[in-house]
Amino acid sequence: MKETGRWTQLWLAYDSRRDMGNGVYFAQVFFDGFDIMDHRIQNAWAELAEGLERMLGISPVNSKEAPADGGFIVRRQEGIKAEGYGIIQEDGILTLSAADENGVLYGVFHILRQIALEEPLEGVHITCHPDNPLRMLNHWDNMDGSIERGYSGRSFFFENGEILVDERTRDYARFAASVGINGVVLNNVNVKDQATWLITDRYFDKVSEIARIFEGYGIRLFLSLNYAAPLELGGPDSADPLDKAVISWWKEKFTEVFARIPNLGGFLVKADSEGRPGPFTYGRTQADGANMLADLVKPYGGIIIWRCFVYNCTQDWRDRKTDRARAGYDNFIKMDGDYHDNVILQIKNGPMDFQIREAVSPLLGGLMRTNQMLEVQAAQEYTGQQIDLCYLIPLFKEVLDFKTYCKPELDTVADVVSGRTFGNKLCGMAAVSNTGNDANWTGNDLAAANFYGFGRLAFSTSLTAEEIASEWVGMTYSNDETVKQTIVRLLMGSRETYEKYTSPLGIGWMVTPNTHYGPSVDGYEYSRWGTYHRADHLGLGVDRTDTGTGYVRQYHEPNASRYNSVEKCPEELLLFFHHLPYTYRLKSGKTLIQHIYDSHFEGVREVEEMIRVWESLKGKIPEDSYALVRERFERQLYNAREWRDQVNSYFYRKSGIADEKNREIF
Ligand code: GCU
Repeated sequence: MKETGRWTQLWLAYDSRRDMGNGVYFAQVFFDGFDIMDHRIQNAWAELAEGLERMLGISPVNSKEAPADGGFIVRRQEGIKAEGYGIIQEDGILTLSAADENGVLYGVFHILRQIALEEPLEGVHITCHPDNPLRMLNHWDNMDGSIERGYSGRSFFFENGEILVDERTRDYARFAASVGINGVVLNNVNVKDQATWLITDRYFDKVSEIARIFEGYGIRLFLSLNYAAPLELGGPDSADPLDKAVISWWKEKFTEVFARIPNLGGFLVKADSEGRPGPFTYGRTQADGANMLADLVKPYGGIIIWRCFVYNCTQDWRDRKTDRARAGYDNFIKMDGDYHDNVILQIKNGPMDFQIREAVSPLLGGLMRTNQMLEVQAAQEYTGQQIDLCYLIPLFKEVLDFKTYCKPELDTVADVVSGRTFGNKLCGMAAVSNTGNDANWTGNDLAAANFYGFGRLAFSTSLTAEEIASEWVGMTYSNDETVKQTIVRLLMGSRETYEKYTSPLGIGWMVTPNTHYGPSVDGYEYSRWGTYHRADHLGLGVDRTDTGTGYVRQYHEPNASRYNSVEKCPEELLLFFHHLPYTYRLKSGKTLIQHIYDSHFEGVREVEEMIRVWESLKGKIPEDSYALVRERFERQLYNAREWRDQVNSYFYRKSGIADEKNREIF
């Protein structure tokens, strides 16, 4: 593996010597029941050899026979769940058992993680299997090399209409596999121009090269599809899902595509959303569109992942009844049960759009007879763009832990999307990826915790955000307790800090239009996107109760009543559900307006404190990382001050109510 500097290897850098005690098992490695020529097994072996060499300075030896004492056995064992593994150490032997090759890969990465974290392998006795069948990364990479909502440089998959395949492709696959990712969508959901041609001869060879690399790491390749492809690729002059000519065009197309691209899992489709074409154009339903494609990919074992991000993006701001938060549910709930069994509905959370705080999408668990998947965004579009620190795992965790009440038990979002609730096999989690071709992959070194964390969480939803953070720091920086605790503390507080200096109590938005970085309180207030805060001189918030847009009724009880009531509504979501006067008293005793002022001052103070905490790490972590993150914090502080002053001034001017503490507001 090519070494091009520390940060290029992320949490797999394995750059320092670790506790030697863990090395004793690897003098002889014996594969029992697995073909050592299999691509995944070869990669697992290469990872093991590389990791052991770097961390312990030892080279494992592949043995032809089972070691009698002192060795490592990788054994095929039926009865272990798909992609799962067991690791047992007894009588001098370390055994990794798995039912399939992915299990071997994940087990090897588990062992390497344990060595990196200097946790003894002695006496280990664990079994582990993924909670979610599908654990996917969605790349919003365009073929010109740009990345929609990318904050880490340009695409490492595409440049100038060409597909890139190099060392980075492999490294990316290694990182993804090391945290259990088993599906990757290569191109942006907004499929335009050259990307429409990814399903043609022009690109088959290169896409196949990537697909083969992925296959070696247990990752299936997916492509985003242009729903109007028949029209754009010289097929019939329609994309009507019930039109025979359209159906036979797709049929032929899929025969060709699946024959030419190995390891293709299927397609992701953004239809009838933000100007993208879809079945609505032809007076057909979303189910008509999804099912037509699904039936045609079925013979190849393919699946269709259909996004539910369908809403009216040409709304009139004067209209107080149309509610973007409602749209996903309104558009998809009616056809619950109509989707064919190889369709998965991918549900963006939140129901508005990846804000720092939103209610959980009511479609999750609202749908009860349809395969469903949770979509989150690791790319920090609205959450600081990898300049500001915002560790998102606590937010993802909150969504997973949300009780939907769709059933008397096993009713959390984690239960629903893992298949435990309704027994689905096709379900899971997807994240919009935060990677790019920056040397450190994620722009901000600390943003790699979101890449790592998403994978780990999708694999094991019961891990805590703190456990994940601590693992990531141990693997990336060091196991030194001070370093670990310091960085974990920074990560764990970062989401709330970000929330404090941006938009209060679930109201969201107030961002600069288009770029979505930095404040612009009214930036989207009179626009067509349905993203309003509805502030006037008396109060603010969106009334989504029975007397407002009625959105609350999309939840099962008791959630619906809880959100409907000002008293019972969780306070952090108050303005998401209610329009309230500035003088409304929160549980803290503070008025709403005072809360806005206080939290914004507090948010900036917390960023200043974060910088001091980071500075305490100087000399304890590599200087290049120290300096890079220090510089990002400086920009974050600037951004936080801007947010504080614009938001506070805005609400002071609207309300005319002074800050009780008489601080500077403009
Ligand atoms: C957001 C984002 C867009 C993206 C869209 C989506 O609106 O700003 O860039 O295309 O989400 O999820 O499809």
